[in-house]
Formats: sequence, C-alpha cells, structure tokens
Amino acid sequence: MEKACWGDAVSHRPSARDQIISVLSQCLKVIGLYQRGVHNALDLQLNHLELGFSNLPSAFDGFSILQLSDPHFGALAGTTERMLQLVSGLRPDLVVLTGDYRNEDYTNYEYVLPPLQELTATLSSRHGVWAILGNNDCAAMVEPMEDIGIRVLINETGVIEQDGESLYITGVDDVHAFHTEAAPEAMKNAPQGFRIALVHSPELADSAAACGYHLYLTGHTHGGQIALPGGIPVITNIKCPRRYASGLWRHGAMVGYTSSCVGTSVVPLRFNTRGEAVLIRLRCGAP
Ligand SMILES: [Fe+2]
Repeated sequence: MEKACWGDAVSHRPSARDQIISVLSQCLKVIGLYQRGVHNALDLQLNHLELGFSNLPSAFDGFSILQLSDPHFGALAGTTERMLQLVSGLRPDLVVLTGDYRNEDYTNYEYVLPPLQELTATLSSRHGVWAILGNNDCAAMVEPMEDIGIRVLINETGVIEQDGESLYITGVDDVHAFHTEAAPEAMKNAPQGFRIALVHSPELADSAAACGYHLYLTGHTHGGQIALPGGIPVITNIKCPRRYASGLWRHGAMVGYTSSCVGTSVVPLRFNTRGEAVLIRLRCGAP
C-alpha cells in the first residue's frame, strides 16, 4: 500500500472567486432566490439502482451497496441531519463513501469526525463502511476515520468474501489534487475477479475499464449542483466528457455511476439538481 503525502490545513485569504461568490449570493438574496436554492439543497433523495452483471459471483446476487458522496460537512446547516434521516433504517451489505468530507481543502478536518461517527452508528451494514478521500480531504484524516470504524482505501484493494466467493474493491487517491502512479498501479495489481473501483471523480474510467473493472462508483460533480432546466450541468469540475458528470454511464464493458452527491460545494445552493444517497443492488444476469 502506498500512502500519498499531503498537508493539512493551510492559511486562506479571501480570493477573487470568494468575492464574486459573495456578491452573487447577495444578489440572489435580494431577488429572493437564495432561500429557494437552500431549500433545494436540503431536499435530498434516496435513489435505488439495480445493476445486472453476467459475471457477478452468485453469492453476491442481491448484494446491496449504499453510496454517499461529498457530504461537504459544515457547508449548509441541516444537511447532515437530512442525510441521517434518509439512510436511517437501511440495512445495506456495504456502505461506500466516495470523498470530500471536508467542505474546503484549507480548513482543519476535526469537524468531519462527529458526523462521520454518527453516520457509522446510524447505519447497520454487514461489511461495514469503506471510504476513499476526495480533493478537499487530507491524509491526516485517515487514522481518525479508521479509529471510528471506517476502512479507508488508499491506492489499495480490499476483499469481501461470502459463501466462498469474493468481490474486490479498489479505492484510489483523488485524481485532481493527489494523483500519482500509485492509483493506476493499484488497479492493475488488483486480483482477478468481480471488481469495483471507488474513485472520487470519473477521470479514471479509461484506466479502470482497461484493467477490467466491472463497476466504477464516483461523485465530485454534485450533478452540476446549479444546472439548467432539465438538470443540464453548467459547471462539472471534471476533465472528461460531460456524459460522465451525472448518473449512470457505460465505458466499454464497465458500468459507472456518478452520484449527484449529498452536499453542496462553494455555495450552499442547488437549482435543477437534487442531492442523493444511492442504494445499489447487484444482480446476476444481463446488464
Ligand atoms: Fe470533490
């Protein structure tokens, strides 16, 4: 296992971007749209997804994975409570968290631990909670997250065994901020079998598909967060085609899902998108 090295909190002065956001937020407040955007941002939904795979080991037929991405804790009061309401009572076989627990990359990280702890206490999952880090997170978070019972995958593959059969899950460092060759290497070196990639954003779809991954779970884009009518994203924050920015997609034989995420980024507002938790059920059979 190779752990990437990167720093913790750094000093931050308001940038030109911060000032523009502040002015735009004031304008939205004046015209009465700000509160509507906040309301939309708290209107999270639970989406169910059933995915068929011809090569899924039969022991995993019906295996359920709850994916939560980008909670950006602290960005908008009420988001954590709404997320916990949404998932309480669910009994997934596995929970995967696909990054960005911190709201900004320059803040301390301690404030993300209580909501993560509450989440792990709320969810009853047979195989626990597995996570990767996002571009806003830092290496210093790994140990405290593991102390509260979350398994953090840093360019490594974990295995889940059930009735003598195996499912492999590879988690890698964020592509935008912390990418190293260790990420594609971890994919190349994963054992053969049914394999799922956890990557904070969709840009490694090419590498994962080339390595024979079957499912790629990701987030980061917030589904565009502030989108045009019909949910068409304006800004995606990814360096790959827009078809990977939201929802279900396919790359060769691999299926991918880009979550529209739990939280909000930069501004605590959503228009024409909804935040989500995703409950995925794996099935043996035709895609
Ligand atoms: Fe992100």
